[in-house]
Amino acid sequence: MKKKYMKLLIVAIASSFCLVIFFSKLKDVEHEQKDLAKITSVPDTTPRNPTTVVVSSIKKKTYSVAPYELPPLTISETFRKGIPKNGAFWNRKLHSLLRQFDSTDNQTQKGPLDKFNCQPESFELLQTNIQDVHSYPPLYGDFLRGMQCRDPPLLIDQPDKCASENREDQIFLLFAIKSIPRNFERRQAVRETWGREGLYENGLQVRTVFLLGRSSADDPKLDKLVSFEAQQFQDLLVWDFHDSFYNLTLKEHVFFKWMLDNCPHVSFIFKGDDDVFANTQAILNHLKSLEPEQATALYTGQIISAANPLRDPKIKYYVPQSFYEGPYPPYAGGGGFLFSGNLLPSLYHVSFYIPFFPIDDVYNGMCFKALGITATKHEGFKTFDIREQDRENPCVHKDLLLVHQRDPGQTMRLWRNMHSTMLTC
Ligand SMILES: *[C@@H]1O[C@H](CO)[C@@H](O)[C@H](O)[C@H]1NC(C)=O
Ligand SMILES: *[C@@H]1O[C@H](CO)[C@@H](O)[C@H](O)[C@H]1NC(C)=O
Repeated sequence: MKKKYMKLLIVAIASSFCLVIFFSKLKDVEHEQKDLAKITSVPDTTPRNPTTVVVSSIKKKTYSVAPYELPPLTISETFRKGIPKNGAFWNRKLHSLLRQFDSTDNQTQKGPLDKFNCQPESFELLQTNIQDVHSYPPLYGDFLRGMQCRDPPLLIDQPDKCASENREDQIFLLFAIKSIPRNFERRQAVRETWGREGLYENGLQVRTVFLLGRSSADDPKLDKLVSFEAQQFQDLLVWDFHDSFYNLTLKEHVFFKWMLDNCPHVSFIFKGDDDVFANTQAILNHLKSLEPEQATALYTGQIISAANPLRDPKIKYYVPQSFYEGPYPPYAGGGGFLFSGNLLPSLYHVSFYIPFFPIDDVYNGMCFKALGITATKHEGFKTFDIREQDRENPCVHKDLLLVHQRDPGQTMRLWRNMHSTMLTC
């Protein structure tokens, strides 16, 4: 109530100040308020009972053939030629999978699902394949041993995330946010701001899921809080694998699979981090403006092209020479990017022929390139952030689609200011 009086008071003051400007702006303001009302009053069109499924007994199962049929696959020449054949471990692994694809798998439509039996590679075996493996950072060892494991059990599911009665209610945009168990506050900021689920302008449905693994042994036990959060908000997906930087391609792979099982008809997917600021309305406007042929082959964000592996063992993105040698394909910065939902089956299929890579954005770039999809740069994605003095300026953010990175407080503030009726940019 108080807020309403405040608003009235503010409007009254504003109108007495500059009547002329006010009348010219009035239409816009009303329009904006209506749109916001739409978002807030219809947070959720499909009534949701607590449908979160918490799978407590961990069943080890082998890969079952998916209920959907994987599409026929061609792996592009530019991708094959772009990754040199040499002695590096990953390069050898890739080209051996490609040979296998060409010799048998491309005749049938069966993916190589049965070829990934999760047998952790022994250190001895690794050592015969990578002479200097003893000099790799310890976490690399975990990554190498787990490279073949592609089917961790799903512990917390949201099977009704994309359920809807009629086809017109198809989800237009799904936010898939990489998070880790302890980032409660970041997730809440996303829920209350740019990741808000519901019906937006022009009847566009938006949904959000957070992608999580298990907390590390060094973290306090957060499982109970996480499952409470999942029941409360119905937007967490939790898989049974150790949530670490090098396991992000695994997270990508299981996310593709989950999408095919649960949300196969989503038009667009935003994949990103939990510490970015996304401008939902600007994203929706951009997606809505695409030509049909762009909309079905979209892979866009801030594109990093002509990058090469970094060889300094002290940095996060270190890739040893004996592991991978060659340039990286153009890839969208992992802070946030957009792609077409209809690419999901092919992405999932092709990801069986591309060995897991320690850097997930590079891996994505490889998958899209293998499908012959061009990475398109969009100036509105600022994964390396913007000028210091602009970082709290809502007007600067109006035309941007994404900035990296913002803490929960900054995200809340920016969002509030951007949607303030007092804002005149
Ligand atoms: C499978 O790949 C080989 C080698 O590239 C090619 O010659 C053959 O035509 C492909 N078969 C199909 C069914 O696409
Ligand atoms: C990835 O997750 C698996 C399963 O929990 C684990 O064995 C492996 O060590 C993890 N890899 C990394 C690099 O953390």
